[in-house]
Amino acid sequence: MEIQPVKGTRDFYPEDMAKRNFIADLWKQVSLRNGFAEYDGPIFEYLAMYQLKSGDEIASQLFAFEDRGGRQLAIRPEITPTLARMVNQRINALPRPIKWFSVPRLCRAERPQKGRLREFFQWNIDIIGVDDCLADAEVIFCSVDFLSQAGLTNNDVVVRISSRRLMAALLGYFGIEKEGLEKVYGVLDKKNKVPQEAFGKMLEEVISDSSKRQKVQKLMAVESLSQLEDFAGSDKNANQAIEELKQLFNYLNIMGISEFCKFDIGIVRGLAYYTGIVFEIYDKSEQLRAICGGGRYDNLLADFGGQKISATGMGMGDCVLGIVLEEKGVFKNLSQKNGIEYFVALADESLQNESLKVVTRLRRAGRKADFSYKGGSLGKQLKQASAANAAMCVILGEEFTQKKQLVIKNMDSGQQDIVAVEDFFSRLG
Ligand code: HAM
Repeated sequence: MEIQPVKGTRDFYPEDMAKRNFIADLWKQVSLRNGFAEYDGPIFEYLAMYQLKSGDEIASQLFAFEDRGGRQLAIRPEITPTLARMVNQRINALPRPIKWFSVPRLCRAERPQKGRLREFFQWNIDIIGVDDCLADAEVIFCSVDFLSQAGLTNNDVVVRISSRRLMAALLGYFGIEKEGLEKVYGVLDKKNKVPQEAFGKMLEEVISDSSKRQKVQKLMAVESLSQLEDFAGSDKNANQAIEELKQLFNYLNIMGISEFCKFDIGIVRGLAYYTGIVFEIYDKSEQLRAICGGGRYDNLLADFGGQKISATGMGMGDCVLGIVLEEKGVFKNLSQKNGIEYFVALADESLQNESLKVVTRLRRAGRKADFSYKGGSLGKQLKQASAANAAMCVILGEEFTQKKQLVIKNMDSGQQDIVAVEDFFSRLG
């Protein structure tokens, strides 16, 4: 019986692992330099935790199961609820603000498509305890910091920003009931993701009154922050939300990333718990789903039985990101970077024990070193060294037998140097 991998999962062969590690290592490095500390939680939790506040879409994509004790559990589709639970548990002991990051493996039973799988890794950064859009600006800055560090520019990616608070205020102002808002958000979030006609139909299902619907459609056509003021009229909440967005753009400007950022009324976010500024980052080809998404969720900790504490954060998956980085050629030199530093070869089989000693000394000195099990001609061993992406070859031949010298061959330039064994090792440090 031939066993297939499960649909929507990935096998990571060494070359894939090198790419995954490149991304995850940079996620960690950028988190640390932006002042975030790492945490993690369990890969499954009580099912109810995700049914409570993540929203219908995620709830319909859960890998849920019953354990032997009859408990209803689910594999984590996101880590934000776990974060809220963990912070609530120690809220009085944790110094604030809490700036934490994590790189969990997540599962969602989505229809697999380009950039969306059933199992993926997602970088999360969250700031808890800061009720100021400076924290939202910092989350956006940190996301852009990573993308720039990975080699992307504002010609490659765009941060699209809006506000749930603004949307809630304007929808309320248009007369849409508070109770129906979650469903309306779910549809508005699809505006840039489904054909216009389908969007119209979906909107009809959640807003039956045609005059209210028309107002919403007009609002969704707004292209700039200044146009919004006409819609807000004298509504206090809406005007405050506009002011907050202006302040956010001001911070982003001071942080030097405004050329990456754009206001976009179409960003609403699919998850139910967002309450304020929301954002998503897209690649400029516009062909792929979002690279990342996040926003402010000021009620989630309280909804999970804790105190009401402000929170904001984002999640960035490795799938769309991987496609974008591949297209940009970022992974091109990875095999060289991760290759063997020294491949030890021998010109005469009688030197096998000596060559093994050289390999061992290199490894003990912290160098990536390897050798051929098969041995054979020097030519064959050099070929093996190239296949292993070795930077240097250390050859034991006549010079070794006669004068205890090594031939060091640079595999790139082909240049060869002859060095006494002890000099070679003392230079390594
Ligand atoms: P989300 O929008 O559901 O938000 O996911 C954020 C990112 O995770 C997406 O933009 C995408 O990069 C990646 N992602 C989501 N689903 C998949 C999938 N099936 N396959 C591959 N990648 C995927 C959240 O998860 C929030 N918890 C983020 C957050 C943290 N908000 C505040 N803090």
